[in-house]
Amino acid sequence: MPSAGSFRESWLRPFFFYGNNWLSLIGGGITTASAMVLVGFWVVAVFGHGGSSNPYLGILFDLLLPGVFILGLILILVGILLRRSFLLSTDQVPSFFPEVSIHDPVFRHGLDIAVAATFINFIIVGICCYRGVAYMDTVSFCGNTCHVMAPENAAYHVSSHAGVACTECHVAPGTAGYIHAKVNGTKQLFMVLVDHYPRPIMANHKVPVASSTCLNCHNANAELGDKLVVTQSFADDAVNTQTSSVTVLHVGGKDALGHLSGIHGAHLGKIEYVSTDNEDQNIPWVRKTNSDGSTTEFVVAGAPTPNTASPRLMDCIGCHNRAAHSFDTAEGALNKMMAQGSPSSSLPFLHKEGLLLLNGKYVSQSEAKARIASSLVTFYRSQYPSVWNQQRPAVQTSADTLVKIYMSNVFPAMNVRWGTHPNNIGHTDSLGCFRCHDGNHTSTAGKTITNDCSICHNLVVSNEAHPKVLTDLGMN
Ligand code: HEC
Ligand code: HEC
Ligand code: HEC
Ligand code: HEC
Ligand code: HEC
Repeated sequence: MPSAGSFRESWLRPFFFYGNNWLSLIGGGITTASAMVLVGFWVVAVFGHGGSSNPYLGILFDLLLPGVFILGLILILVGILLRRSFLLSTDQVPSFFPEVSIHDPVFRHGLDIAVAATFINFIIVGICCYRGVAYMDTVSFCGNTCHVMAPENAAYHVSSHAGVACTECHVAPGTAGYIHAKVNGTKQLFMVLVDHYPRPIMANHKVPVASSTCLNCHNANAELGDKLVVTQSFADDAVNTQTSSVTVLHVGGKDALGHLSGIHGAHLGKIEYVSTDNEDQNIPWVRKTNSDGSTTEFVVAGAPTPNTASPRLMDCIGCHNRAAHSFDTAEGALNKMMAQGSPSSSLPFLHKEGLLLLNGKYVSQSEAKARIASSLVTFYRSQYPSVWNQQRPAVQTSADTLVKIYMSNVFPAMNVRWGTHPNNIGHTDSLGCFRCHDGNHTSTAGKTITNDCSICHNLVVSNEAHPKVLTDLGMN
């Protein structure tokens, strides 16, 4: 084993001698500065990760900074090798290397430079990291920077969660959730960099369970009672006949006395299920834990028995799967916007024509934008010249609204089309509640998960032109 003395003689002294050059000193500065920032970050991470739980921080702290650290080391080495070969070639290598001593002016000079470089680098690297972290925590980073998030980002900004950061629902609190998100985030960023990612992007059970996200803000036991839902529809006739439907939904919950009622009261904490797809659209097996602790299994007659070893507990996301990114159907979106006045129902056949254009096949959003607008104009100009002459601005704004509807729901570049991301609330546009409440899920005792319309809602009015009840309620 070499003694401490010979180590100093044959390694340390030559190292400092050759290392006394600009390149190595700057390398030393970069290395120490990035090491200090890294250590600082780890300390913050261990004691509660400083409020940032961004999954893409992994890129900065696990890849970029260590990269900078290694770059510094390489610079030190290159500097040493260059100086050594320069001195060798000019025959200036001393017969013995000078003592490494704080009294030696050459060594002291080098030390001054290294300390100054470290200090400056620390400030630069530190500020860059601080700004990087602050930026990555913004919704703009999660949603806007990455074009593959365009569909979710667009829907998010018009949802009731537009003020809630992506990470609130996509990163579970605690160290495990944090590390999980970081590993996933890094993987996803690489997939985007090498242009190898799924189109469309689906949730694939990767969103954390509601108890660690939604319930930080929402009360699972709130009693929401009944909810009045009024919807407008327009017909495909010349005058776009408008009708209204009025539904009273029994949302329910848990009241002050602990009684469970309605839709919320019926499921929470006691329904488990197994699905045969990643989006939970096909559910052949359901288990309910009854109030006495016994369980009832409901299965679809004739369906192959799935593996029931690890069922999923139905939580808020089981129904509110589109809480922050709801994509509409063409029909639903058109009706909603027409009820607000644009596209204008004063234009003949607007509902029929608008729906046709929204459902058209376009290879990109820009193609859709151009073709929807020009087709609507052409339609009125050629078929209804008098309408075109008298209501030109209405035709133009209607075309603009149609384009807007398309652009917020269909993203050809990501293969997100009408219906790609079904909403599990309801059952008219996709299976939704009827994934289980279809009248086909039956227990061995012959009990069926109910399909009785009035248990979930009272259809007070179904597609009437001027429902009296809305006038009575002052809503018409
Ligand atoms: C209120 C909670 C919440 C917020 C805030 C939120 N998400 Fe989501 N996100 C969800 C849920 C719930 C799902 C669907 C889970 C499922 O279907 O299993 C989802 C799914 C996704 C998916 C998978 C594809 C899809 O559409 O199902 C992506 C991508 C996504 N979110 C991105 C984002 C981005 C980007 C933001 C911020 C701009 C964001 N989310 C904000 C709750 C949220
Ligand atoms: C950071 C807090 C926060 C988190 C996390 C959160 N929400 Fe919300 N949620 C809100 C706020 C604020 C509103 C708007 C309330 C209002 O407008 O009255 C809201 C509204 C809602 C609504 C009613 C409006 C609508 O869109 O139908 C539902 C349902 C809902 N949240 C479900 C969820 C679900 C499911 C999750 C988990 C995936 C979740 N929330 C996570 C804060 C949160
Ligand atoms: C069995 C399906 C189901 C489950 C599970 C469920 N909800 Fe709901 N929730 C509904 C339905 C249906 C409505 C009313 C429909 C609507 O608002 O469009 C509703 C309404 C709401 C509303 C009120 C929306 C409004 O506009 O007034 C909130 C808030 C909400 N749910 C939060 C939650 C939370 C939080 C959880 C989890 C603890 C949860 N829900 C679990 C089906 C469900
Ligand atoms: C398991 C509960 C459940 C059952 C059973 C059920 N529905 Fe619904 N239904 C819903 C929910 C939830 C919605 C969504 C309401 C909303 O838009 O917020 C809905 C919406 C509807 C709508 C659309 C209402 C509108 O305003 O556009 C119609 C129509 C409808 N249901 C008819 C029926 C009929 C008819 C039956 C009986 C065969 C039935 N439903 C059974 C839960 C149920
Ligand atoms: C994963 C399967 C599943 C889904 C999806 C589901 N439910 Fe249920 N639901 C059940 C089971 C199981 C029961 C208990 C049936 C029983 O005890 O007979 C139940 C019970 C109910 C009850 C009480 C029925 C009664 O007889 O009192 C209501 C109301 C209800 N569900 C509404 C809804 C609504 C609305 C939706 C969609 C937003 C929905 N459910 C989605 C499985 C489901």
